[in-house]
Amino acid sequence: MLIRRAERFTANDVTDPALYLTRRELMAGAAALTLLPGESAAAPPAGAPLKAARTAALSLAEAPTKFESATTYNNFYEFGVNKDDPARLAHTLKPRPWAVQVDGLVHKPKTYDVEDLIRLHPLEERVYALRCVEGWSMVIPWIGFPLAALLKRVEPTGRAKFVELTTLLDPAQFPAQRPGFFGFSSLEWPYVEGLRLDEALHPLTLLAVGMYGQVLPNQNGAPIRLVVPWKYGFKSAKSIVRIRLVAEQPKVAWEKAAPQEYGFYSNVNPAVSHPRWSQATERRIGEFRRRATLPFNGYADQVASLYAGMDLKKHY
Ligand code: MTE
Repeated sequence: MLIRRAERFTANDVTDPALYLTRRELMAGAAALTLLPGESAAAPPAGAPLKAARTAALSLAEAPTKFESATTYNNFYEFGVNKDDPARLAHTLKPRPWAVQVDGLVHKPKTYDVEDLIRLHPLEERVYALRCVEGWSMVIPWIGFPLAALLKRVEPTGRAKFVELTTLLDPAQFPAQRPGFFGFSSLEWPYVEGLRLDEALHPLTLLAVGMYGQVLPNQNGAPIRLVVPWKYGFKSAKSIVRIRLVAEQPKVAWEKAAPQEYGFYSNVNPAVSHPRWSQATERRIGEFRRRATLPFNGYADQVASLYAGMDLKKHY
């Protein structure tokens, strides 16, 4: 994000949702289609079919970005700073077995095996806009469950005010975490993100375990990543190993790296420019013309009340 702006994608980067899956995947997924409403399959390894009913009320009507773009044009600095580094290198990430520790200011701390975590919650498909702070955006059909459902399980204490989410630290799996890794990165490892507790409990805040009818590809943050659609994409931490309830506002990755450029809140806001570029417009991957960026990425009706009385120019 400190590095470079994106190149232009061509107009045929948008595809019909019916064409996401290869014929082999469609056939393999046929068994999963027999699930009853509300039921969902336990997640097999990355790329395998994963079915979930779409929650239409929380989904955009727009056609999703082409699957190939969403899985080859990524920010995942643990693999390097180039957009194609994650897709090229993410085979080193081993998303199973995987533990997620949920602790801190909670009555019932617990470490979950990710397979158990997925089975505990009905999976939903939600088509969300993703707006990167760099000025590009996508439309992605995520599969997951609300972070709130997990937080309610562990019962936050009255002192819990924020949620800190931490990505895996393992230089064996993430090349850019190795000392002397060739390539510029101003981030400290592990990647840490955070939300205010009310933001974390908001029904739009999702823990995603799949996308495009498949188990989450490694480069998109397998096996489990955050999705907060009204905030810039960097708030949506990938490959999460720990979710900790805390009393103080966590120190988060990009804010630590460049506090004058990236704030804790990082709500999508066309009225607040990045110090080096405007945030008024965005390039939807697959579209030719730039389009206007909407306050809270188009989710103002649902989330603006969380920030009533706050100066969003100050709390950027
Ligand atoms: N999470 C980790 N651990 N490391 C990262 O570099 N990049 C963020 C976010 N989550 C990042 C991360 C940024 S800048 C964006 S825009 C989104 O992931 C991109 O998600 P995608 O590659 O699935 O589109």
